[in-house]
Amino acid sequence: MTSPVILAAGTAGVLDETSGVMDLSRIGAVVTKSITPEPREGNSPLRVAPVRAGMLNAIGLANPGIEAFVQAFAPKAASVPCRVIGSAAGFCVSDYEQVAGRLAACDGIDAIELNVSCPNVCGGPEFGVDCGALTEVVAAARQAIGRREDGGKPLLAKLPPVSIGTPTTIVDLARAAVDAGADVLTLCNTTPGMAIDVQTRSPVLGNGTGGLSGPAVHPIVLRLIHLVYTQFAREAGVPIIGLGGVMRWDDAAAFVVAGASAVGVGTAMFADTRRPGRLVRELDRWVVSQGVASVDELTGSLQS
Ligand SMILES: Cc1cc2nc3c(=O)[nH]c(=O)nc-3n(C[C@H](O)[C@H](O)[C@H](O)COP(=O)(O)O)c2cc1C
Repeated sequence: MTSPVILAAGTAGVLDETSGVMDLSRIGAVVTKSITPEPREGNSPLRVAPVRAGMLNAIGLANPGIEAFVQAFAPKAASVPCRVIGSAAGFCVSDYEQVAGRLAACDGIDAIELNVSCPNVCGGPEFGVDCGALTEVVAAARQAIGRREDGGKPLLAKLPPVSIGTPTTIVDLARAAVDAGADVLTLCNTTPGMAIDVQTRSPVLGNGTGGLSGPAVHPIVLRLIHLVYTQFAREAGVPIIGLGGVMRWDDAAAFVVAGASAVGVGTAMFADTRRPGRLVRELDRWVVSQGVASVDELTGSLQS
């Protein structure tokens, strides 16, 4: 990638629709909308709501389905002026296997990200919180896209922000995903949340609950990146993409210091489509101010 800044899955259209409002050649990569085997209408409205420190969404994986994606979107992928990461989602192991395999076969799709952590659909998130299920899904996707040593494309596992209240830690999940064939960890997807209209005394979102993103989740994700980096990824040599609440350059820089090699941005774009471009420039300035040649040299540079 020419830059460590990535446009997060589902926040930048299906493929390259943001090219009308930003220069994608300055961005490291764009992640597609998560694609499922069949087309999906998604949840009933309201699907997005602002909250005090971010936003809630319950899109419900609305997407054109893999067949329409391959016909109508994939042919444009090779001409997108940054890396393209295809996002695969599903409700059973064979869904992920099928979508990952089809996406990987597309020219111009450089890597596959497995969305095993969508909190807004029934049956979707379970894969990301159980080491056994995660192993099965990642191994099946790896098999479908081919082994790295045989030319198979890089595989990213996007994990949920598992913080407390479960016997399985984020480090266990990270290790399971990598052991099963993931090359990169994306930390993290949204965290389940809710908003209530107190006048009507009903949920704001049509789905009742949704995924929280934006500034509120940044400190939570920062800690998870630090945990995964220090307890597993550093020694294993596995890159982390930090994602959650990056609004300004110093949010991104904090992810890097904690252990991220790249940073994703989603919610910030809803506030201002110029944010990703600005982040790229300001991160470059930070790298210079730290007296190093690239962001890589600052990954995991937290001083104790
Ligand atoms: C409107 C919206 C749609 C999203 N759709 C997807 C999706 O299709 N697949 C996915 O993996 N994540 C999806 N996400 C999660 C984002 O990729 C990202 O993980 C999350 O928003 C946290 O980053 P942020 O705080 O910078 O927005 C979506 C988020 C939002 C706000």
